[in-house]
Amino acid sequence: MSVCKCGSNAELDPRWEILEDILNAHRGNAGALIQVLHAAQDVFGFVSEEVQEKVAEALNVPLSEVYGVTTFYSLFSLKPQGKHKIGVCLGTACYVRGAAHVLAELEKELSIKVNDTTPDGKFTLEVTRCIGACGLAPVITINEDVYGRLLVEKVKEVLAKY
Ligand code: FES
Repeated sequence: MSVCKCGSNAELDPRWEILEDILNAHRGNAGALIQVLHAAQDVFGFVSEEVQEKVAEALNVPLSEVYGVTTFYSLFSLKPQGKHKIGVCLGTACYVRGAAHVLAELEKELSIKVNDTTPDGKFTLEVTRCIGACGLAPVITINEDVYGRLLVEKVKEVLAKY
């Protein structure tokens, strides 16, 4: 495998070469910051500090500005994501119908807190705002699947499907 200019990591992980191609296509173009961060996240699944540093350098943007963007927009993940993403709606309707208890049960079952990923990389637990399914409150999503009127007692059963 060839070694790209972005560092020795490329020898271990071909994703760094893909990132280098993306950066080369936008080098010096500060206006492409969000687009490039998106592309980088598509490649790695999240935007690590190292990736952000490389983006800042290539686009000639202050690192503080890159951090500002990645921390402001919730669509950017700063940590590795699990294979299955769980979203617990804490919108008003869901909250009133016990979403906090469902969330607590998920935290207990998975032994992680919100915004964490299980050590085996299987699940990432997040909270969401209303997803427009209030009639089914409380609602959680796992990847593209929606589980409504979810009872705390059913949490284990739902997780077992994954
Ligand atoms: S409040 Fe949860 S879906 Fe609307």
